[in-house]
Amino acid sequence: MDNSSSFLKFAIKVAKEAGKIQMKYFGNISSIEKKSTNIDLLTNADKESEEFIIKKIRTTYPNHSILSEEAGNLSTDSEYLWVIDPLDGTTNFTHNLPIFAVSIGLVKKGVKAICAVVYNPAANKCFYAEGNKGAFLDEKPIQCTSSDTLSESLLVTGFPYLHDNKYNISFEIFKKFYDKTRGVRRLGAASLDLCFVAMGRFDGYYEYSLKPWDICAGSLIATEAGARVTDWDNSKLPTSGSRILATNGLIHKEMVSILTKKEYSLFF
Ligand code: IPD
Ligand code: CA
Ligand code: CA
Repeated sequence: MDNSSSFLKFAIKVAKEAGKIQMKYFGNISSIEKKSTNIDLLTNADKESEEFIIKKIRTTYPNHSILSEEAGNLSTDSEYLWVIDPLDGTTNFTHNLPIFAVSIGLVKKGVKAICAVVYNPAANKCFYAEGNKGAFLDEKPIQCTSSDTLSESLLVTGFPYLHDNKYNISFEIFKKFYDKTRGVRRLGAASLDLCFVAMGRFDGYYEYSLKPWDICAGSLIATEAGARVTDWDNSKLPTSGSRILATNGLIHKEMVSILTKKEYSLFF
């Protein structure tokens, strides 16, 4: 913590305070709205958490740009961009499942995240990282696993709210991995999925149709914990979130060979 930048200290403080807002509503939600589909939900906690985070950034770094899930793109001409998911795992949250988080990433010059925090308030666990400084869970360094075969691996994935023409193929892919590994979990909060790869709970994670705020912070935390984080075909990670593959590095090739099979060509 001592050699942390003021950006990281700020982001941790804000994420923990936003987490308090979420816990005020957890188990006690008074309003649920629907967004893109009937299963894409929005609660007061998402809104209040976002308002709080944006206000803090506006006060402390008034010229910085912000990209946040509900508020959208609040851009300035600053080289700094805060990428925020004010509540990642809203479906879990509304069903009283404690797997949800505040996710805050800071990107410099539109390239990659330089600072990241993912805070799971229900467990009071805070994951964070800065470029080239390693990844931490509550001040302890974390590292991904050393399993080197899929057959000894546990994976995690997720599915989008929109059940479009890629949906059936995504279950074919799921089945393929399910057959070749010790299992594939679906927890419902992309930022935590990435942190769980970072801390060694999972050996690999893949998903598609995510958004920048789902992966910005978690992908830096995973990378700093030694993970390889790329597109499904092993090329550079799209910051859009369109596809992501995060592994301990050792099973990356095996996962890429499945994800790039010809029969799954709808994805590429
Ligand atoms: C969702 C979660 C989930 C993923 C969805 C995301 P939200 O974010 O990260 O794990 O599978 O695609 O949209 O809506 O809870 O912020
Ligand atoms: Ca999200
Ligand atoms: Ca969200």
